[in-house]
Amino acid sequence: MQSVPQEPSFQLGTAYWNQRQVLRARRDRVLALIRAVDNAGDLSSFQWAQLMAAVLEFKPSLVLELGRSFGNSTCAFNEAANVLNSQGHPCRVVSLCLSDNWEALVEPRVRQVVEESWFQSLEALRANILTFDYDRVIQGAARCLVFWDAHGFTVAECVLGNILPRIADRPNLVLMHDMLDVRYLPPESRLYEQNVLWKGNNWSGPRVRLGHIESTVEQAVAIVDFASRNGIPLESADHSIRTRIGDDPGKLQEMRQVLGEELFSLCGNWFYFSLGDARQSLTFPRFAPPAPEQIKAPKSKSNPPAVRPGWWARIRHKLRQAAKAALKRC
Ligand SMILES: C[S@@+](CC[C@H](N)C(=O)[O-])C[C@H]1O[C@@H](n2cnc3c(N)ncnc32)[C@H](O)[C@@H]1O
Repeated sequence: MQSVPQEPSFQLGTAYWNQRQVLRARRDRVLALIRAVDNAGDLSSFQWAQLMAAVLEFKPSLVLELGRSFGNSTCAFNEAANVLNSQGHPCRVVSLCLSDNWEALVEPRVRQVVEESWFQSLEALRANILTFDYDRVIQGAARCLVFWDAHGFTVAECVLGNILPRIADRPNLVLMHDMLDVRYLPPESRLYEQNVLWKGNNWSGPRVRLGHIESTVEQAVAIVDFASRNGIPLESADHSIRTRIGDDPGKLQEMRQVLGEELFSLCGNWFYFSLGDARQSLTFPRFAPPAPEQIKAPKSKSNPPAVRPGWWARIRHKLRQAAKAALKRC
């Protein structure tokens, strides 16, 4: 693997520290939103706080969320967008997902927690990431933050070849979920034990290890390839928090006191980068849109899935939740 510079310009650890009092002020509401979403398996409470810190510090005018499902990250981002708007920094969240979990289940519960105006900054769309018209939302957005939490090589190709070229000319930050920093995993995590070789998205045990990145999802492979070609440092939330906060006993104690264990952890289990940190002229893969018959339509009442999720889908979901819970222990 080609070596790339280690120090990106944005530091999540610095953002977490700088935004600690803002996060503390919203703590009760954030915890109420977490209860309303009621899907802790997809994003832990400290990750909510970390994603909010990234938005509060970077001050994007657009947060583009790729993959909403039950909407943990959607709420974290929109809560941060509400704070930014109240501080005079216009910020909107555009969230794309095939799933209707948000409108069918979660949004009515969130309405019990927040005022009507909270939704003004949020556009939660049931749309396919592969076919979405990005010009409409990206045009006019001076600063863009992308949250990449939908998986598979085709989505990765769309992110790297279709979305990133559109935001490369302005300040940008890309956050990637479901990626672990090997430097902070226990030594025995290197062992295959009973696992077969990782061959693609797999929540039953096998993971792919690439340098100091470990993951169950394909985007880890795609982003290491992309970052290596472009000389872009990939930073982990874990490394940034540990070096900016964890190595300073005074800061560590204060973060624990101010945020408590729900909203503070030295663990992140996600990575980020900015195209602005590239040390080479940027090169992007060609995005080949899938053939129409391969495109999944968003689920809706007028367009129900052909087959209801069966026992295998339910088992896969349970495996995924168990694997995610295991990842969170650090
Ligand atoms: C891991 S979940 C997102 C979790 C969410 N970010 C959270 O914090 O709760 C990934 C979601 O991406 C969606 N997804 C996958 N491929 C997609 C595509 N091509 N277009 C839109 N959504 C997609 C899936 O339907 C799924 O709901």
